Amino acid sequence: MARITVEELKSRKLAQGATPIVSLTAYTQPMAKFLDPHCDFLLVGDSLAMVIYGLETTRGVTIEIMCAHGRAVTRGAERALVVVDLPQGTYEQSPQQAVASARRVIDETEAQAVKLEGGVEMADTVAAIVASGVPVLGHVGLLPQKAEHRGAFKIQGRDDEGAKKVMADARAIADAGAFAMVIEGTVEPVAREITAQVAVPTIGIGASPACDGQILVTQDMVGLFADFTPKFVKKYADLGAALEQAAREYADDVRSGRFPGLEHCFGVEKK
Ligand code: KIV
Repeated sequence: MARITVEELKSRKLAQGATPIVSLTAYTQPMAKFLDPHCDFLLVGDSLAMVIYGLETTRGVTIEIMCAHGRAVTRGAERALVVVDLPQGTYEQSPQQAVASARRVIDETEAQAVKLEGGVEMADTVAAIVASGVPVLGHVGLLPQKAEHRGAFKIQGRDDEGAKKVMADARAIADAGAFAMVIEGTVEPVAREITAQVAVPTIGIGASPACDGQILVTQDMVGLFADFTPKFVKKYADLGAALEQAAREYADDVRSGRFPGLEHCFGVEKK
């Protein structure tokens, strides 16, 4: 099966008649396998710090952790492009640091691209990574890696100054060579304006249907993360409740002697 390429995604603008780009996060091989047929790209997001490791924010996740999960996902994804997040602290110091981190992630995971957060201040870094041969997905608007606690996740672009900042960030990242960009937690008129202004696709999360594509954190979408659910999430399943019910029935069966049955045993004569 042919994998979707960076070049294919790069040209997918709604204004040019394209269908919206579909993306979800994935952190494990089985999850990647389930999601692969339905997504254009899978993101090994540093959101795994919160939804897998139970940390307060996305900070504190290491490049080793991202590489381990990245490799698991590339084992499960055949068709979807795989993008891995560069974690906080591995790319902000200098373009050289960022190139080394990006190359390490690609070499260790076999993913097709990396993502990093930031706008104007990250433009030289994005350009350096792209020049080294690694495609970059940008990320502007709400930047979770900047938040030191969950209460610091704030919707962006509400006032004039904020709107101008997100737009300048988006233009800078597009000009630097990002093949697409995530716009997170940003008001609709700003997301719409950015999508009209930049030549590469915008992927919204809490940034309205005006974007060229959408992404959600899979654990949020299927009810596997109960700590809090942002307003922009639509829940398509309640796997948390299903898991709890399965665990309840299993516990009842074990305690009452209904499990294991003879059909689950070895060396027992069939009657
Ligand atoms: O880490 C992540 O899952 C992300 C998405 C929210 C876009 O960056």
